[in-house]
Amino acid sequence: MPSLSRDPSVPLSSNLHLRRWVDKMRQLTQPDAVHWVDGSDEENAFLRDQLIKNGTLTELNQDLWPGCYYAKSDPNDVARVEQRTFICSLSKDNAGPTNNWVDPYEMRRRLKDLFSGAMAGRTMYVLPYCMGTIGSPMARIGVQLTDSPYVVVSMRIMARIGLPVFREIDLDKQRVVPCMHTVGAPLRQGERDVPWPCNPEKYIVHFPETREIWSYGSGYGGNALLGKKCFGLRIASNMARDEGWMAEHMLILGIEDPHGEKTYVAAAFPSACGKTNLAMLIPPDGMTGWKVSMVGDDIAWIKPDREGRLRAINPEAGVFGVAPGTSASTNPVAMATIARNTIFTNVALTPEGGVWWEGMTDTPPAECLDWQGKTWTPASGTPAAHPNARFTAPASQCPMIDADWEAPEGVPLSAIIFGGRRATTMPLAYQSFNWSTGVYVGATMGSETTAAATGQVGKVRRDPMAMLPFCGYHMGDYFRHWIKMQRLIRETPKIFHVNWFRKDADGKFMWPGYRENMRVLKWIVDRVHGRVLARETPIGWMPRYSDLDWTGLDFPRATFDELQFVDPQAWRNEVMGHEELFIALHDHLPPEMVYERELLICRL
Ligand code: GTP
Ligand code: SPV
Ligand code: MN
Repeated sequence: MPSLSRDPSVPLSSNLHLRRWVDKMRQLTQPDAVHWVDGSDEENAFLRDQLIKNGTLTELNQDLWPGCYYAKSDPNDVARVEQRTFICSLSKDNAGPTNNWVDPYEMRRRLKDLFSGAMAGRTMYVLPYCMGTIGSPMARIGVQLTDSPYVVVSMRIMARIGLPVFREIDLDKQRVVPCMHTVGAPLRQGERDVPWPCNPEKYIVHFPETREIWSYGSGYGGNALLGKKCFGLRIASNMARDEGWMAEHMLILGIEDPHGEKTYVAAAFPSACGKTNLAMLIPPDGMTGWKVSMVGDDIAWIKPDREGRLRAINPEAGVFGVAPGTSASTNPVAMATIARNTIFTNVALTPEGGVWWEGMTDTPPAECLDWQGKTWTPASGTPAAHPNARFTAPASQCPMIDADWEAPEGVPLSAIIFGGRRATTMPLAYQSFNWSTGVYVGATMGSETTAAATGQVGKVRRDPMAMLPFCGYHMGDYFRHWIKMQRLIRETPKIFHVNWFRKDADGKFMWPGYRENMRVLKWIVDRVHGRVLARETPIGWMPRYSDLDWTGLDFPRATFDELQFVDPQAWRNEVMGHEELFIALHDHLPPEMVYERELLICRL
């Protein structure tokens, strides 16, 4: 049994603010012990061993899945809880109509009650983490106090953690974001723990002015790995607005053409709409000489450099990706990335100690245990894996990780792509006329809801810049910030919109997607470098059939025309949808958005 060669209760930081805060929170939450996380292998093995004993983790067959573990969550703790997510700014107006708001004084009172004694019977981990490579001028630091060892071993994959971060904190160069987290399941004396402790009542709370995060009741994903959405997007979007940069729900990838010229692009798609898949794309066989590399798959922090060029970093160190649908044919790169040192949550467990999910293989296993541990066969009629089942894997294991993915200064961005999941109306690809029309395209993005959040799936909603659940302040002010950013940029990136999900009359996807998306990426790169003309339409510039490289793909011109069709009636309805969003945001909406809407209506 792995044990620790040090006393984990001994503080690993000399920072007095931090030590006082830890002490205060210990008094509030009443844990049995405090454990300062050093991030070592020894510590990781120790925590894993505890998680296995508690039934939270199951060791997978180490011959098939070396270093891999399996967890199944409580059935009521499977996704982000948007209805329970709060932006508690001092004024309600600053949170805006798209966020839940509670008066911060009132919320602090509630949280104090909830957290009081919440860690009884458990250990409180002091988990320091850095978003971005340590020492990068764009990196930011947080400390998460948590009573979940599952969170600690997951955050070890998703962020840079441990001693090097404490060292940064001791240098006292930047403000640290305090992050409180409890699963909200205190144990009475002698009470046995459950495999996935959580609380039916959940609170994911942000105090933007004081840059604080308080998360109660959940141990899953973005609810609990606080570096990700809570810090990486909601708090970071506030920092970014104040400091002149951008925190976005975007993948970042590098595209190398056959001459070796590299172009970096970022793409904002809503949750479970294809960021991880696009970030790991392998060009189709016909497109020889083209290479793609991944910088990040979920979050981009973007800032103009001294020359006025936008540069992007991936603040994360791991991939928390959707498992269902991932296979050797749809995403071989993801399959290679998760082959070792990965934590799988809410997938199915096979009899030989492996994992399975819908879409992983053509033939499902004859029998397995589903994500709730019940015997499952193909005849069961329920999914074996939860639709929001995920893998947590080190980004460094991605075979196509970009050589500069950890560059402290980031990579230069030439294009920004917006895209949603739209069965109708939206064509495969178009380019906006300029920055301001591009901001309008992002601001009015729509997408069908997915299993990434609890609630109804498949309903089209406005999801501006894929940030609806993640923007930490008023959405109208966020648009204004986008508009204002142009002044800080010398070479504005070109802005595009794509839709891989348009369906035909029979309800079938019209576009093969996945690696074939490379054909659209190539067009985008060609447009960025001015290598190809485009057709002007009311909504923007569109590729002609002959502008896309069709080598190795038999895609009829008629289907392409259908895929690219801009239906005037459908677009009139679309613009009405924009109006609805704009009415909700009206008192903070930058005038540019209103003009852009008028211009679009005129062109239509
Ligand atoms: P988050 O991690 O939730 O932010 O999601 P993500 O944007 O990284 O989504 P991901 O790449 O994991 O894609 C999720 C779902 O979209 C999976 O079910 C994929 O199979 C599906 N998907 C991804 N790319 C394509 C595509 O090009 N075409 C089609 N039809 N489906 C796709
Ligand atoms: C998303 O929902 O966009 C995710 C997963 O990337 S989570 O970290 O749970 O938010
Ligand atoms: Mn995401």
